[in-house]
Amino acid sequence: MQKKKKIIAVGISKLLYFTLKELPTVDFECLLDNSYADDSYEGIPVRKYDVLKQEKLENVVFYIFAVSNHSINIIQDRLSGYGVLADQIFLYSDLFKESFENKIHKLFGSDIAQSRYKFAKTATLNSKLTVQTTICGSWLFLESLNNTKDVAGDIAEVGCFEGGNAFLALRSGIVPENKKFFLFDSFEGFPALSEFDPIKHKQGDLKTVLDLDEIKGTFKKFPNVKIIPGFVPGTFSQIDDDSKFSLVFFDCDLYQPACDTLDFFWSKLSKGGLFLLHDYFYEPGGFSGVKKAVDEFSKLKNIESFPIWETTMVVLRK
Ligand SMILES: C[S@@+](CC[C@H](N)C(=O)[O-])C[C@H]1O[C@@H](n2cnc3c(N)ncnc32)[C@H](O)[C@@H]1O
Repeated sequence: MQKKKKIIAVGISKLLYFTLKELPTVDFECLLDNSYADDSYEGIPVRKYDVLKQEKLENVVFYIFAVSNHSINIIQDRLSGYGVLADQIFLYSDLFKESFENKIHKLFGSDIAQSRYKFAKTATLNSKLTVQTTICGSWLFLESLNNTKDVAGDIAEVGCFEGGNAFLALRSGIVPENKKFFLFDSFEGFPALSEFDPIKHKQGDLKTVLDLDEIKGTFKKFPNVKIIPGFVPGTFSQIDDDSKFSLVFFDCDLYQPACDTLDFFWSKLSKGGLFLLHDYFYEPGGFSGVKKAVDEFSKLKNIESFPIWETTMVVLRK
């Protein structure tokens, strides 16, 4: 009989936190993370990579939980350096793809595509730009674009950072050319935080490394992309009063921008349009402000919400 393989999780992140909560039957032998100070996380032992020198590696598989594409690639290289083979390495999305699929199937019906998952995965891993949306998060964005292609109105990503998620979506060919795609960001990082945001963060965090001209250069082949630099909600004044939107993706991480973005865009969303908000799910000490803003707004307006922990997002449909 084939021996059951041990599962080692690599990289302590919010995705690991939610997996431990939502899929408690997955039995991790230990977690690998060289930068984590304690020797256990959520009751699971934490080890340094050097423990792999003593492991019989043929009996082990690894699941990587790092969020950004660059971190995933660094971890893959590091595991290879210890002799781990490619067919022993999996990603978080392999573990919870099925539960995610069930949810978006309920939301969008049968019109979801494995090809879009494959694209989200390979484009995330191979992107030169940082993508922080997560693999299932970008897949959800692609499915949402597909689901709203016949809904009147434009597209907005509020909090685009260096444009990693938007560029991935544009490369997929799924963004209709007749829709404008607005990208909002201060490119200066966070504004002042509110009392509902995590104290470990401060004004100026997440300032882009690329400068604005480099970010504009990324999108020069896409004439429908409109980059709007500056802090929201001030920059919303650059949107025409009578404009409509089919899809809005909020990813500014913080309470007040979430309130302002919901206030501004909800009335501009066409019937059948979708509002996606990242960081609705947060780990202890994480970005707690978005859930508060969404819950307050959806209660006030009596809006049904579709939370999807596998992406950390919530979806609101008009
Ligand atoms: C997590 S990043 C966005 C990641 C991006 N959506 C992606 O998937 O690659 C958060 C961004 O929100 C921006 N941001 C936060 N508050 C803002 C505000 N009030 N106005 C404009 N940008 C803001 C930050 O500058 C940062 O670039």
